[in-house]
Amino acid sequence: MKIRAAVLEEFGAPLAVQDVDLAGPEAGEVLVRLHACGVCHTDMYSASGVDPSGYAPCVLGHEGAGVVEEIGEGVTSVVPGDHVVTLFSPQCGECVNCRSGRTNICLAIREQQNLGYLPDGTTRLSRDGEPLRHFMGCSTFAEATVMPEIALAKVDPESPHAANALFACGLSTGLGAAMFRAKVFEGSTAVVFGLGLVGLGAVAGARLMGAERIIAVDLSEDRLKHAEHHGATDLWVGGEGVVDRVLEETGGFGADFTFEATGNVNVMRQAVESARIGWGTVCVTGVAGRGETLDVVPRYLITGRTVMGASFGGVKGREQVPQLVDRYLKGGIDVDALISHRTTLDEINTGFDLMHEQDGIRTVVEYV
Ligand code: CU
Ligand code: ZN
Repeated sequence: MKIRAAVLEEFGAPLAVQDVDLAGPEAGEVLVRLHACGVCHTDMYSASGVDPSGYAPCVLGHEGAGVVEEIGEGVTSVVPGDHVVTLFSPQCGECVNCRSGRTNICLAIREQQNLGYLPDGTTRLSRDGEPLRHFMGCSTFAEATVMPEIALAKVDPESPHAANALFACGLSTGLGAAMFRAKVFEGSTAVVFGLGLVGLGAVAGARLMGAERIIAVDLSEDRLKHAEHHGATDLWVGGEGVVDRVLEETGGFGADFTFEATGNVNVMRQAVESARIGWGTVCVTGVAGRGETLDVVPRYLITGRTVMGASFGGVKGREQVPQLVDRYLKGGIDVDALISHRTTLDEINTGFDLMHEQDGIRTVVEYV
C-alpha cells in the first residue's frame, strides 16, 4: 500500500515527506496504523550524520503509538484493533537474556535492526521498487509501519495515542531507571541531573517509589519548573558546585540515588561523586559522545557506591510498558504536561527545529 512517510534522504538535510510503498506483514510481523509519534534526540542525531552507525535513505521515527491493522502468519499476541506502543527495545521472551529475567536487553533481532532491516534481513518499505530501510526497527514517522510482533506492547485502549508515544522511549527510560533499574526506595534522597523527558521521567519515577527528597538539577529555569510539577522537592541550577552542595545538604554522606540524563561525561562524574558513601547508586541514562570516557576515582567504588546504566530504563517493553501506561491512567504521571507541541507529519521538521532551540519537552506528531 501507499503511505505518507518522512524520509531521511541525506544527512544534515530536512526530512522529505512523500509517498512510499509499504508491503504487508510477513510471518511474525504486524502492520500498525500509526496515530502519534514523538520526535526524539536519537532521530535528530541520526539525521545529522554524526552517528557513525547511521544510514540513509531511511524512514526515521521510533516513538510510535497506533492500532494493529493486520497480522502476519503465526502472530498470536495481538489482533487487529489492539492499541500498541512501538518498542525499539523488543522483548522476545526466548533469548538467553530474556529468559534470565535479569535484563531488558533482548538479543533476538539486534543485528538486522541496527542495519535497518526487519529480522529476516529485508525491508517492507520501498520506493519505485527499491528497498528503503527501517530505523530502530520502528520507522514511525509514517502513516503505517510493519514491525516484529516482539517489538509491540499492547496497552489499554483508553489511553490516548499521543501520551502512549511518550512511553515508547524517553519517558519510560526515565521512569524505568528509577523504578526498575536503580529501584529507588521509600524515604530516600535522589538527585536527577538533566531535565529533558528522560530526567523528568526519573523525577516522576522516584516520586512514585516514595523518595522523600528529589533534587532536580538543570541549567534551564523552565525545565526546573517542569521538574517541580512532576515531584521534585529541590530545584538547583547546575554547575561546578553541585557535588559540594549535595554533600553539604546530606550530612556529608551524599544522595542515596543519582541519575544522569544529559549525556555529558562531566555531569556523569558529578553524579558519581554526589552518590552516598556506603550504598549510593548512580544510574547513567544519557548517551555520551563517541570515544568519550567516564572518569571515576576508584575510591568512590571501594567505599560502596554502585555505578550502573540502563538502556530504555531497564524496562522490559512488552511486560512493563503496559504497566507504566496504567500508572498514567490512574493519575500517577502527568504525561500531558510533557507534550509541549503537537504537529502534523507534513510539518515534522518543525519538531526538529524546536529541539535545536531546546524549546519544550516533547513534540508529538499526530496522524489524522
Ligand atoms: Cu527516543
Ligand atoms: Zn529476547
